[in-house]
Amino acid sequence: MPHPNAELVAGFDPAHLSPAFYVDPYPTYHALRQLAPVHRCPDGSVFLTRHADLHRVYRDPRLFSSAKERQFRPVFGTSPLYEHHTTSLVFNDPPLHTQVRQAVGDALAPRAIAAMEPGLRELVNGLLDTLAAKQHFDCIEEFASVVPVEVIGNLLRIPRTERAPLRGWSNAILGALEFGLGSAGLTAGNRAVEAFVDYLKGLIAERRRHLSTEPDDILSRLIQWERNGARLSEHQLYHQCIFLLNAGHETTTNLIGNSVFALLNFPEQLAHLLANPALMSNAVEEFLRYESPVQLGNRTTTDAIELGGVTLRAGTTLTLCIGAANRDPAVFEDPDRLNVARDATGHLAFGSGIHTCAGLHVAKLEARIAISALFARFPRLRLNGEPRRAARARFRGFEFFPLSTHR
Ligand code: HEM
Repeated sequence: MPHPNAELVAGFDPAHLSPAFYVDPYPTYHALRQLAPVHRCPDGSVFLTRHADLHRVYRDPRLFSSAKERQFRPVFGTSPLYEHHTTSLVFNDPPLHTQVRQAVGDALAPRAIAAMEPGLRELVNGLLDTLAAKQHFDCIEEFASVVPVEVIGNLLRIPRTERAPLRGWSNAILGALEFGLGSAGLTAGNRAVEAFVDYLKGLIAERRRHLSTEPDDILSRLIQWERNGARLSEHQLYHQCIFLLNAGHETTTNLIGNSVFALLNFPEQLAHLLANPALMSNAVEEFLRYESPVQLGNRTTTDAIELGGVTLRAGTTLTLCIGAANRDPAVFEDPDRLNVARDATGHLAFGSGIHTCAGLHVAKLEARIAISALFARFPRLRLNGEPRRAARARFRGFEFFPLSTHR
């Protein structure tokens, strides 16, 4: 008898996804993992869904390159988007990657991040005061997105009055990484890179005029970073800053939004968490596993290899499906169930290996504080209408998520 979801696999093409997929991609991911874990897509790329395969790929950056020139040139041509995405550290291999990673690494280390905690609590409490007065609100627009915009804005010391366009730019630039990008998305992404670079030229010039010898923001650190005579060029500076701002925005917004939604869908888990607040750090790992904000990543093979019995030629584009790996029953028991007490160690929500998310401590701190404060203030929080998922496969989150603070 054929697998009940065999038809989801036969024609699976990430460039043509259905509205039902965006609502719930997991039945497709389970079917792929069972029937075609190394799935050949119509464009010749390969889609991986097993945890063990992703882990192997992440751990071998020599054989599985992060550089994207070959993939991006046909889509972006010679454009600001091409320049941006091929410069940012996440899409580069050593030695450039190693240099830039050192430059941002210190500023995002746990000790630097822990100092942010009091300010973050104050910010979240202020937001909750406003929401308490309103009673009905959009969890994304009025809560989840506000926290990361402020945090990353503070990390780069972007003046508060200049932060308004950041989220729109970030969405347009990251949106251009989705499959099946149309001309409107391409234009919006290119305009956003141009506007962002223009803005950063002024900001960086101003920062250079007032450089401190003990900088407390990432931008000053990047400007002053020097190792064995190497420094970041002006071009590097713009694009690493844009990348950092983008990496810190949408992902964390979605982590907070997805977590709130998951808890409302599993009321017994919410009750358990409210009764055991010390579980919050553990719960955040489970939210990351259960509804990973970054669902897809990519690598390119640099040599011929065999993966899961399939031989892949050098130059094959791989899509690493984090969303599927984090629900792999070979690693996580009963994977479609949210369980805030589960040991979710080993989830791949932040990737793994040399490109492991440099901002993971910030992201987890933001989520822990935002989610605990929200439910502590509004224990009777509930849905107030139909939430709407963004039609994106790479970054999973909501466009609109209406909540009410009372029953
Ligand atoms: C829940 C929130 C977040 C998630 C799920 C997430 C996820 C990821 C993933 C999966 C990667 C690896 C990509 C790859 O190897 O292909 C990554 C890389 C990265 N992330 Fe995050 N991220 C989050 C938040 C942040 C924040 C808040 C920042 C900065 C403040 C940040 C900065 C970075 C940087 C700099 C890299 C590139 C690291 C490298 O290439 O060495 N991320 N992130």
